[in-house]
Amino acid sequence: MKSMIFQLGRSLRSSAPLGGLRGVYSAARPGVTRKLEQPLTSEEIYAREEKYGAHNYHPLPVALQRGEGIFVWDVEGSRYFDFLSAYSAVNQGHCHPKIIAALTAQASMLTLTSRAFYNDVLGAYEEYVTTMFGYDKVLPMNTGVEGGETACKLARKWAYNVKGVPKNKAKIVFADGNFWGRTLAAISSSTDPSSYEGFGPFMPGFELVPFNDIPALEKALQDPHVAAFMVEPIQGEAGVLVPDDGYLTQVRELCTRHNVLWIADEVQTGLARTGRRLAVDHEQARPDIVILGKALSGGVYPVSAVLCDDEIMLTIKPGEHGSTYGGNPVACRVAIAALEVLEEEKLAENAERMGQLLRSELRKLPSDIVTAVRGKGLLNAVVIKQTKEYDAWKVCLRLRDHGLLAKPTHGDIIRLAPPLTINESQLRECIDIIHRTVAAL
Ligand SMILES: Cc1ncc(COP(=O)(O)O)c(C=O)c1O
Repeated sequence: MKSMIFQLGRSLRSSAPLGGLRGVYSAARPGVTRKLEQPLTSEEIYAREEKYGAHNYHPLPVALQRGEGIFVWDVEGSRYFDFLSAYSAVNQGHCHPKIIAALTAQASMLTLTSRAFYNDVLGAYEEYVTTMFGYDKVLPMNTGVEGGETACKLARKWAYNVKGVPKNKAKIVFADGNFWGRTLAAISSSTDPSSYEGFGPFMPGFELVPFNDIPALEKALQDPHVAAFMVEPIQGEAGVLVPDDGYLTQVRELCTRHNVLWIADEVQTGLARTGRRLAVDHEQARPDIVILGKALSGGVYPVSAVLCDDEIMLTIKPGEHGSTYGGNPVACRVAIAALEVLEEEKLAENAERMGQLLRSELRKLPSDIVTAVRGKGLLNAVVIKQTKEYDAWKVCLRLRDHGLLAKPTHGDIIRLAPPLTINESQLRECIDIIHRTVAAL
């Protein structure tokens, strides 16, 4: 068995530069041996996914095979700058050697115990991450949306046990345009019909206020049944919407005044992406609950976390919440390495400097085509004026043809978010690609 796996691994590696593989990933029927066949072209890879996979995504046509740092390569061997970073999961760059070393070392030692037993890595990670972010405790989960669900459950428990909200009356307030994933609870707070349409009935107890609107929030928080206000410090999926300076500070003040928990969804904005360790650090505002995900593993493994102090965290008792994989030794070892990389390589500082350079150069693009440039650190977006000839999707196709991968959001917005390891000369090369692409429109 072991030698079979080794041979498969060798075959995969040896044919890696040539293309995708036909048949390797298809499920073998009992008794039927898998065999490697010809490499696949990009077109064949699209067709196979189209045929066998659910149509719940609309990927840009490029079939990737390999990644290293800020670059990815397709199955035909073409190299691209990655300007999406897997929606900010790959802040540390693709296949960061330190994170991969942590993954492989732990994978051959102990992978999963479940939380039925202790393991010797979880506590080390818990100590590391809580010390780093200055909270009493952490609750480990896997995906970002599970982090959001965990935060909502904590807020409800706290509302009943500490704040004294009557049973089943707790409310959580969200901002219009929020995005925190695809579970039934997450889409219940969504204002985007493509997220919620056709999936009702929805979770009760969720309310909405406009984003970046302090008077509206103040009004909503006067309801004594409100447990929490959950908000992204910058709304990523909504199109990189940056609130006014001072918004986060005022959110903090209002939540404190009304005895409401402030939940900061830092799944996309956190971990150096916006030029600070957390995006809330731009205003030195401390949320009651912080949700982390994505780059917590540098893109190698699903790892998420919820941080808060004892008054909130200890309202959840054994058996009341958890996940089989949450806090597993591989995830913990990987997360420590991913966090160490952010600090050792000063990625927040680099994101801050490179982000300023990127935005100042993007603002030189013709304003009749690029109508807005916004962002913080290396979480940025440009708004493209749609015409009969082009829209954001077509611009992304042309960027791809010039060797840069980005993805539109909401039709007219292109997010520009490379790995935070990008250096100045690489960034200037990318800026040149963007300028040439836009000029050719
Ligand atoms: C702000 C924010 N929260 C939560 C999520 C959900 O994360 P996941 O896709 O890992 O569940 C996302 C995903 O894009 C996000 O941007």
